[in-house]
Parts: sequence; C-alpha cells; structure tokens
Amino acid sequence: RTVYVNGQYCPETEAKVSIFDRGYLFADAIYEVTCVLGGKLVDFDGHMARLQRSLQELDMTMPMSIDELLAIHRKLVAANNVDEGLIYMQISRGSADRDFNFPPKGTPPVAVMFTQSRPVIESPLAKRGLKIISLPDIRWGRRDIKTVQLLYPSMAKNAAYQAGADDAWLVQDGYVTEASSANAYIVTTDGKIVTRKLSFDILHGITRAAVLRLAAESGYTLEERSFTIEEALAAKEAFITSATSFVTAVLEIDGTAIGEGVIGPVSKRLREIYIEQAV
Ligand code: PDD
Repeated sequence: RTVYVNGQYCPETEAKVSIFDRGYLFADAIYEVTCVLGGKLVDFDGHMARLQRSLQELDMTMPMSIDELLAIHRKLVAANNVDEGLIYMQISRGSADRDFNFPPKGTPPVAVMFTQSRPVIESPLAKRGLKIISLPDIRWGRRDIKTVQLLYPSMAKNAAYQAGADDAWLVQDGYVTEASSANAYIVTTDGKIVTRKLSFDILHGITRAAVLRLAAESGYTLEERSFTIEEALAAKEAFITSATSFVTAVLEIDGTAIGEGVIGPVSKRLREIYIEQAV
C-alpha cells in the first residue's frame, strides 16, 4: 500500500512517525474515516467540516487546505486502486519532547493518511445484522470531538466479541449514548425513528446527519431524544449508522431479540436509500 505521511507518499513499510508524536504519547490527535464507494469519496465535505470543528475545539491548526486534503485522498484512492473501502486520516498536534503542556505555537501538525480496501455495501455483518451487548459509557466528556482516544471503545468492542456479540451500546445515566464506533437508533412500535440528540455525549455522525435527512424526506417521523436499553428491547427495530457500516440492523441486545430478531423493513429501507444517494 502507498500511504501518506507528512507531505510524502511512500510504501507503508517505509512510513515513519516520531516516537514523540503527541498522538502517540497523549492521544493528542483527531481523525476522520471517509468511505470510498466506486472509487469516490462519500460525503467528503461533511467529514472536512467535522475535522475543522474537532481541530478548533482542541486549538489545533489545519495542516493544509481542504483542497489539498482532498487531493491527497484522491491520490491515495488511485494509487491503491481502492474501489470500495475507506480512507483514514489522522492529524496530531505534532511532535515535541514529552510535556503535558502543549508544545509552542507553530509546532507543525503531523498528518497521516492510509486506505483500507474492503466490501462495504456487501459487508457480511450488514447482511446478517448485529448482536449487541450493553456496557457502561465511561469515556471522557467530549465525545463530539473525534479524538484518537479510543481505548475504551476498543475494550468495549473486545468485551462484546468475548461475549459472542458484535458490538456494544454504551449507557450513561440509564440512557444509551451510542455504539463503540457508530450512532445508535431504535424504531418504536408506532414506527418512529429515535436517536439521541446531539451534545457533548456523542459523536455528531456524518452518516447520522445524512440518514436523518433522508428518513425525513422519505416521510418517516424522527424523534431526537434519549432512550433506555429497556425501550430498545421493546422496540420494533434497532440499527446503527457510521461511515463504514452505513445503516446496519441490530438483531439482538443483551441476548434478547429485537422485534422478530431479523433485519426489519425500516433498517433495510434506510440502508437502501442511503446507498442509493451515496454511490
Ligand atoms: N467511527 N460514534 C462514534 C463513537 C464513532 O466513532 C463513529 C465513527 C460514529 C459515526 O460517525 P460517522 O457517521 O461520521 O462515521 C459515531 C468511525 C467510522 C471509526 O472510528 O472508524
């Protein structure tokens, strides 16, 4: 694979980042994952808008213009012949001797990008639907900023695997926040789509914004509010959204089937609508 590291394209085996990179030492870095479909970037503008917001919230600087970032994304997709998959982009505050204090202004940020080819539309998990376990949400209080501080989400996903499930839904003060790396939704018995409203508690998903817009245009009723695991267990359907899972149905939570325990019509339809406009 050809990857991008700080101004250079190189084979992945030759890519180097300093051991003093603040992303490595302090998780002082933000990232974006953009989906690639048919060699094209899905909702690149949305991901760039969130990138800028994340940088701003952490008082970090854009390493280059959005046009330049787009050019690198395109070049990597072409160089690696990515038809379907994703591009990962990480920007750290730069590298400096280890100090909790931020490095001096003007320390150059470090940008890294690489591609991953994989089936997204025909992903095995999306075809099958997900088994979920619930776990307490013990992440920090600014989950709206897309930092690389992903230890707990990684532990949660691993715990789900250990329990024979696919992912975890995280619960705070009795209410579901989101999945380990996706937004969480239920469909009520009267057909309403419910998902937690935007706040510091969840990532403001780019797929979430698109799916809510498309769902409203298709005549579904939306409710942006918190819901409990108990309400999810009694729901007709449940699903998640993210750049790499689109809309993926949830079949089971904590061992209890949701609805009929199969991919429901709303999840199925929303996935189709989302893919139609994304390709
Ligand atoms: N994760 N919530 C969390 C905690 C996430 O990490 C993600 C994305 C989402 C969905 O956001 P979006 O629709 O913009 O992808 C929600 C990415 C895909 C990842 O970490 O790989």
